[in-house]
Amino acid sequence: MKRLILSLPSVLGRGASKLKLRNNANTTTSLQGGREFSDEAVDHSTTPFPEFDSFKTHDELYQFSLNSPEFFWGTLARSRLKWFRDFGQVKDCDLIRGHIRWFLDGQLNVAVNCVDRHAEKNPDSIALIWEKDEPGTQEYVSYRELLQLVCRMSNVLESHGVKRGDRVAIYLPQSPVAVAAMLACARIGAIHNVVFAGFSAEALAGRIIDAQAETVITADQGVRGGKIIELKHVVDEAVQTCPCVKRVFVYQRTGADVPMGKLDINLDKELASQPDTHTPAVLDSEDYLFMLYTSGSTGKPKGIAHTQAGYLLYAGLTMKHVFDYQDKELFGCVADIGWITGHSYVVYGPLSNGAATLLFESTPVYPNPGRYWETVERLKLNHLYLAPTALRMLLKSGNSWVTRYDRSSLRKLGCVGEPLNREAWEWFYEVIGEKRCDICDTWWQTETGGIAITPRPSAPGAEIRPAMPMRPFFGIEPVLMEPQMGTELKGGNVKGALCIKRPWPGMARTIYGDHQRFIDTYYKTYHGLYFTGDGAYRTQDGYYQITGRMDDVLNVSGHRLGTAEIEDVIDDLEETAESAVVGFPHEIKGWGIYAFVVLKDEVNTPENEMKEQLKAMVKQRISGFAQPDVIMFAPGLPKTRSGKIMRRILRKIAANQPEELGDVSTLFDPGVVDALAEKHNQITKKS
Ligand code: WT7
Repeated sequence: MKRLILSLPSVLGRGASKLKLRNNANTTTSLQGGREFSDEAVDHSTTPFPEFDSFKTHDELYQFSLNSPEFFWGTLARSRLKWFRDFGQVKDCDLIRGHIRWFLDGQLNVAVNCVDRHAEKNPDSIALIWEKDEPGTQEYVSYRELLQLVCRMSNVLESHGVKRGDRVAIYLPQSPVAVAAMLACARIGAIHNVVFAGFSAEALAGRIIDAQAETVITADQGVRGGKIIELKHVVDEAVQTCPCVKRVFVYQRTGADVPMGKLDINLDKELASQPDTHTPAVLDSEDYLFMLYTSGSTGKPKGIAHTQAGYLLYAGLTMKHVFDYQDKELFGCVADIGWITGHSYVVYGPLSNGAATLLFESTPVYPNPGRYWETVERLKLNHLYLAPTALRMLLKSGNSWVTRYDRSSLRKLGCVGEPLNREAWEWFYEVIGEKRCDICDTWWQTETGGIAITPRPSAPGAEIRPAMPMRPFFGIEPVLMEPQMGTELKGGNVKGALCIKRPWPGMARTIYGDHQRFIDTYYKTYHGLYFTGDGAYRTQDGYYQITGRMDDVLNVSGHRLGTAEIEDVIDDLEETAESAVVGFPHEIKGWGIYAFVVLKDEVNTPENEMKEQLKAMVKQRISGFAQPDVIMFAPGLPKTRSGKIMRRILRKIAANQPEELGDVSTLFDPGVVDALAEKHNQITKKS
């Protein structure tokens, strides 16, 4: 077996049965008197909220979390996190200004909270289960090993001059080294900027430049679904346009002979030569922990910035209570660390709880559609958290891929990223979970830091309804707003713009380098409320169902894309005059991408050639998953007299619903609508 970390002794065997797991994951440092702040270690594994045991029901506690946020969050921050210095003030927030600060004057280190305190208590317990691309080649990393690796990585970074506050771009495959890279940044106070290793060189370069990162950490190659991904090659291309980059660390995932240039540093060699101990930096609660780029309704992705204490508390608390995580369980979130789900529920949430967390390197269909369930059986996973798009795809492959594997270890199932339709929900519940496992449809966003609306099965006896995230998490107060009037919609059976009324510790603090854009995007539409960009429906009895994005953002296979980002690429084709991209409902991907492209006059290039060229451009400039499913060379775009494109009309055409077009009389040229509908029929009939 290829050893993961060069010189670290293996302390563990490979079979799940050999795992020696911790008996109590919680380290409590308490700083004040009173029962809630007593010095006894809080045992989170037996009572849901031992800090608040006078509350009889979760509903009571939920109300308390809204009415006494200082006491609620202050108590949990003290009981769940280890502090170097206690905080003075629980919060200082003014949403109108987008001013959000939690646990002021507190000092801590996130890596210590995620690794050191567990390594001290239960060094041999499992921290990471690396489910590599090839089935049956998993590797385990104990908390002791993870600590050593994080310390070595921290020493490597510091010895090359990486300092507190520096941005570090991480472009790595799902691996223990990737987790260690994130945690080493946290340990030394650098800000990580993980870029999903499926983004193109140009997209990577844009994110490196916007963050002004001097350091990049990558690998020779990645392996996914049996295919090699040339990561180093992509980075080489990207850094050519990034004058800010001073060094590129290269980890050997496959050992391929990749060319090393003058910026490149062999990471494996560096790790082996550094000591495995390191003194963690003392960081302030509100120092940045990471930034993560996500798409908005304009072309330029936003660097959503999260800070230390509030984010960690929220990720850890939600992981524990949404999935009812119990001590010794194996937690499996199959998201990539390149997305917020990977940050919060592969890395920070599970590790801050001292849990064993899965790093899934493969795909749901490699080598066949039984991969998830075979993995569950082999590793004996207790929790599985995945994306609806994967479920819908697997559902089509039939039940026999599921039932041939033993899934009895599973206890809770979750999903995130897009609405989980009823059919997929039922399949998840009945076939995958054999009606034994609660399904947590979790709604949240890169900006919320952690799960915000979810059935929350840890509430004893809580009813769970199919296909809706239902209940707000502690401290979250959703409101629905009437989009035209900007007034609050009260009561049940109403639909509106989903906003959140009060601050919570896990929420984003800013858009890196552009606080005004942060305020304009999230806090202006509904004065002083956090606007999510989603629409939602509230049932008669107060439960929430998400109706989808209200802005020009698409969720394609769980990947978030701005339509403007794609339009920017399409408009760069020589022959393009203008374009409009919209989403249309797609059976597997949730949303498909439909591009309406208006050509300049007198273009003679064959349409097929231009289609291929457009797809290649999108792949090169953004990523393969951003390529349009349908490209129509359109006779024109429906515009108002003032020149605004009426996307509503394009969406209806793309969705095959021309009869629902509504009033088109305000259009400058109403005739264009029929022409578009006809062209749409031609294209879709052909395919
Ligand atoms: C957008 C956020 C948070 C991790 C994954 C995506 C959509 C997310 C649900 C759900 C319906 C959902 C929303 C949201 N979304 N979860 N359970 N039901 N829609 O993070 O890339 O920041 O995207 O994903 O539209 O705004 P993201």
